[in-house]
Amino acid sequence: MRHPAAASLRETVDMGRVLVTRSLPPGSLDPLLSAGHDIVVRGSGDELREAVRDVDAVVCLLTDRIDRAVIAAGGDRLRVIANVAVGYDNVDVAAATEAGVIVCNTPGVLDETTADLAFLLILAASRLAHEAESDLRSGRWSGWGINEYLGQDVHGRVLGVVGWGRIGRAVARRARGFDMTVLHHARTPTGEPGFVASLDDLLEQVDIVTLHVPLTASTHHLIDAPRLALLRNDGVLVNTSRGPVVDEAALADALHTGRLFAAGLDVYEDEPTIHPRLLDAPRTVLLPHVGSATVQTRTAMGRLAAQSVVDVLSGVMPATRVLP
Ligand code: DGY
Repeated sequence: MRHPAAASLRETVDMGRVLVTRSLPPGSLDPLLSAGHDIVVRGSGDELREAVRDVDAVVCLLTDRIDRAVIAAGGDRLRVIANVAVGYDNVDVAAATEAGVIVCNTPGVLDETTADLAFLLILAASRLAHEAESDLRSGRWSGWGINEYLGQDVHGRVLGVVGWGRIGRAVARRARGFDMTVLHHARTPTGEPGFVASLDDLLEQVDIVTLHVPLTASTHHLIDAPRLALLRNDGVLVNTSRGPVVDEAALADALHTGRLFAAGLDVYEDEPTIHPRLLDAPRTVLLPHVGSATVQTRTAMGRLAAQSVVDVLSGVMPATRVLP
């Protein structure tokens, strides 16, 4: 094993071999092709540990589990793992760093697109868009009714943003256009107006809460039953970060009992399996992890990951490097 701090740049590689675990949107890999590297597309699922042998770099997805065993299988040749996602909880960064492998992610290029989707969920969940639309499609809509599909206003309400990174701030900008009051919580004081030091205090003050934290040991089940109980009965919870940040069983209970008005989710604890009590929960919008899913953004993510590999193989430390 190399020294823990050994994940630094080594000699340059002119014609490297780069494993890409899945086909990416057209144009994503142009930086690798222009730099003259050889691309191998394979390695999804169990094949990964075999595929990672004899490559200089891996471009992988958030659905690839890059654990200590996969990194060890990469041997001395492996230099860089570029995850095509901003979240990198699927990569054992500590093991990679110990093995001298640089890990990169794709920050910055998906903020606005993910914020758009978070706002879509804020609106759709608050206004019961899913229930209303499914009634219409299934023929259950019997015409305009003064008491039908009564949601909650979004404009003018108080939005709580948990996690004040780029995506959280992008959601806040959208909220201001809806005349919302925005409060935010982060682990360390942000020095910005609306900062609330205690997450519990924030949850007690908001109408709608939207989650934008990375998944770490300290954010696992950050929103659990006691915290859900702090939200108002007409409150709305939106999660576009990572599923395990929310205790799904507790959330399903809160929705089924009416303790919480509505939820909008794009991420789940055990993707692609969805908790059965969430699947039949009322007033709930469920999307299949599509926060960054636009042609433009997914292509930009692929290109950024590819460029990070080009950088490392040419002896340049990319700004996208992540540390344990
Ligand atoms: C990410 O980049 O982490 C997102 O979840 C992908 O949409």
